[in-house]
Amino acid sequence: MGRRVSFLGLCFWVCMFCCGAASADSRGSSGEEGTVQVTVSVGKSAIAEIDDDFVCATLDWWPPEKCDYGVCSWHRASLLNLDLSNKILLNAVKAFSPLKIRLGGTLQDKVLYNTPDLKQPCTSFVKNSSALFGFTQGCLPMARWDRLNAFFKESGAKIIFGLNALNGRTIQPQGPAVGAWDSTNAESFIRYTVSKNYTIFGWELGNELSGGGIGTRVTASQYVSDTISLKNLILDIYKDVEPKPLILAPGGFVDSSWFKEFLDNTPKSLDVITHHIYNLGSGADQHLVEKILDPTVLDGELATFSNLQSIIKSSASATSAVAWVGEAGGAYNSGRDHVSNTFLYSFWYLDQMAMASTFDTKTYCRQAFIGGNYGLLDATSFIPNPDYYSALLWHRLMGRKVLGASLSRSDKIRAYAHCAKASKGVMLLFINLDGNSTAEVTVVNNGTPIRNHRHYNFGKGIIQFPQDSDGENVREEYHLTPKDGDPLSRTVLLNGNILAVSTSGEIPALNPKNVNSSSSIVVAPQSIVFAHMPYYAIPDCS
Ligand SMILES: *[C@@H]1O[C@H](CO)[C@@H](O)[C@H](O)[C@H]1NC(C)=O
Ligand SMILES: *[C@@H]1O[C@H](CO)[C@@H](O)[C@H](O)[C@H]1NC(C)=O
Ligand SMILES: *[C@@H]1O[C@H](CO)[C@@H](O)[C@H](O)[C@H]1NC(C)=O
Ligand SMILES: *[C@@H]1O[C@H](CO)[C@@H](O)[C@H](O)[C@H]1NC(C)=O
Repeated sequence: MGRRVSFLGLCFWVCMFCCGAASADSRGSSGEEGTVQVTVSVGKSAIAEIDDDFVCATLDWWPPEKCDYGVCSWHRASLLNLDLSNKILLNAVKAFSPLKIRLGGTLQDKVLYNTPDLKQPCTSFVKNSSALFGFTQGCLPMARWDRLNAFFKESGAKIIFGLNALNGRTIQPQGPAVGAWDSTNAESFIRYTVSKNYTIFGWELGNELSGGGIGTRVTASQYVSDTISLKNLILDIYKDVEPKPLILAPGGFVDSSWFKEFLDNTPKSLDVITHHIYNLGSGADQHLVEKILDPTVLDGELATFSNLQSIIKSSASATSAVAWVGEAGGAYNSGRDHVSNTFLYSFWYLDQMAMASTFDTKTYCRQAFIGGNYGLLDATSFIPNPDYYSALLWHRLMGRKVLGASLSRSDKIRAYAHCAKASKGVMLLFINLDGNSTAEVTVVNNGTPIRNHRHYNFGKGIIQFPQDSDGENVREEYHLTPKDGDPLSRTVLLNGNILAVSTSGEIPALNPKNVNSSSSIVVAPQSIVFAHMPYYAIPDCS
């Protein structure tokens, strides 16, 4: 029907503007008991862009004997023994179509691949407290690799494989690993993988050996030459093979000078610079709950993201590498039971993914898909923890373009905005850390509330009146709350309904509820809301 400007429409707009201005006036002050009025202003253009498949999770090597603070939380969640025929596991990965999965972790730098070049028996990890990382060397049998690849193919996962980067080096007790990387075993493993037509999205070199390292470390200059060797190897092995895999490194904690030297010297070899995050401290921390609810703690990671972004920008003439979070589990040493597997952890997790996005992080890998206390799935029952559903909702709703979002109050309400994924308009994410107050949010653009009143505001002086379809009188909302209002519950509700896999292991549908677009967005105490505003037109989102 084309565009239309009507006198009626204009009156409607003016009326809405006045009402909106009235509510915006009360910003920052408490309304009725337990309710705060908040306005959020969404940026007009994209500030960053993420991968379409931004959500990634890890599978690790830890055997059942891996214990932390007396708790053994890995069970049979290792790449070597995970039950790949489990129905929930398959459905949980499939639901993403695709889910990026990064295979790696501490013990990856002690894994041998049982290819014909291996001149020693293929033995499993054995606990040994005097060995580096607490275990002896382990080994991946090719039959297991075949089985894993069959699972990845069936589930539609995109695989990043973390190679053993300590092979061939001499490790000094409590000190550095010296000498060049011996790529012989890795090379035959990659050749085997290619000969089987297994698609690997990326090969990553090493785990937490950068900077000060965990357990041991490798200098940046040595890592540069090893990464160039890996690149040359990949160029050769994939000469006639498509698609070409990405090269990722170093999978460690950001250390400015190490990362800068590494990036500046790997311009043609590195596609992705990967870093790890454990910003909540140890899994033994008695104050984990308070930390997650503390905006200052959550904001503590801003500096790292910002620092890495500027290192990449300052190296931009040299490198085209982008940043990924290659592993993040919140609390290190396997997280904490009754915290990392509860609704509360989604405050940290969703906030991290959203924060990482604003700094142009392309992909965010959660430690772990299964295993430890921080698995998206429970390590023994395979039942999804609340964070699984948070990840899936993010994956389905948050589009590639990241928009700025600023709040009229900056205390315990957190807000993020992206273009909606696979649909029109804007997707907002709200996290209410406050246990007592409900936030009533008005979304504004230059002070004007954004509601569906048949006008779009593209900036000063340009007001357009497109013909809306009837479906645009509503906003779609996804309210996540914990069972019985207990943030430490392991059961999450979506719009008041418990999310649970069916008896046959099917992942439930994640349906929104429709809300009148003229109402404010209500974010209950200690809850999470995704809100889709199809009627909010932003040029970068079309
Ligand atoms: C444990 O590791 C140490 C150091 O690598 C080694 O000397 C020792 O033989 C190992 N013990 C066992 C029981 O394997
Ligand atoms: C791999 O793909 C090639 C070309 O499509 C085919 O000729 C070959 O048989 C495949 N190999 C395996 C092990 O499936
Ligand atoms: C609500 O506020 C009261 C009083 O300040 C406080 O004691 C209580 O812990 C708060 N509840 C939550 C869930 O934050
Ligand atoms: C939405 O709310 C407005 C204002 O309260 C009301 O006039 C309108 O009828 C409502 N629309 C629907 C579809 O409920």
